[in-house]
Amino acid sequence: MLPIAICVSGSGSNLAAILDRGASDPDFGAKPVIVISDRPGIRALERATASAIPTRVIDWSAHGNRQTFTRAVCDAAQQAGAEAMVLAGFMRILGSEAMARFPLRILNTHPALLPAFRGARAIRETLEAGVKVSGVTIHFVDEEVDHGPIIAQQSVPVFADDTEDTLRERIQMIEHLLYPDAIKAFAHGMLAVDGNQVTWT
Ligand code: GRF
Repeated sequence: MLPIAICVSGSGSNLAAILDRGASDPDFGAKPVIVISDRPGIRALERATASAIPTRVIDWSAHGNRQTFTRAVCDAAQQAGAEAMVLAGFMRILGSEAMARFPLRILNTHPALLPAFRGARAIRETLEAGVKVSGVTIHFVDEEVDHGPIIAQQSVPVFADDTEDTLRERIQMIEHLLYPDAIKAFAHGMLAVDGNQVTWT
């Protein structure tokens, strides 16, 4: 079993999808050993506690400095025995120390088809741009924001009457399946990375 740290900032629907998959699929291959949040009092922490996963708050506002914050997150993950990090709606950018300590071992999900619509406002910008197709991207994290070798993508249609909420809901339905699939493949050593190319072996 691959021990993983899951990093969260919000409602934790992806965290829930990962924990549910782990509970229902004996061959999942990844074991969450800690849930790390950048802020206290969020729903994701309650979800972790409900599944008896240890939690740790590394409060961004107490650091306000990417370098010391990154070090604290990596320390917490490694102290818990994690060998990889899974960012699940984590709204902080980790510094280069994270990639050095977890090389090609940090995964992220993004609610758009990267490289389109990077950043925290992806769904709003998707609607503003008037594109007809968006989707979900699961990728390895590198030193740029919403960037790094792409593991999996799936498209989602954008409808004329979509609001941010309706599009987010449709995107997350896909995300909640695709992210656990990608984590499972990673945990089983099925992802071969060559530069920017990821091959499912
Ligand atoms: C997800 O849709 C993810 O793509 C984005 O933030 C959202 C977090 O949602 N990075 P949740 O906290 O997992 O519910």
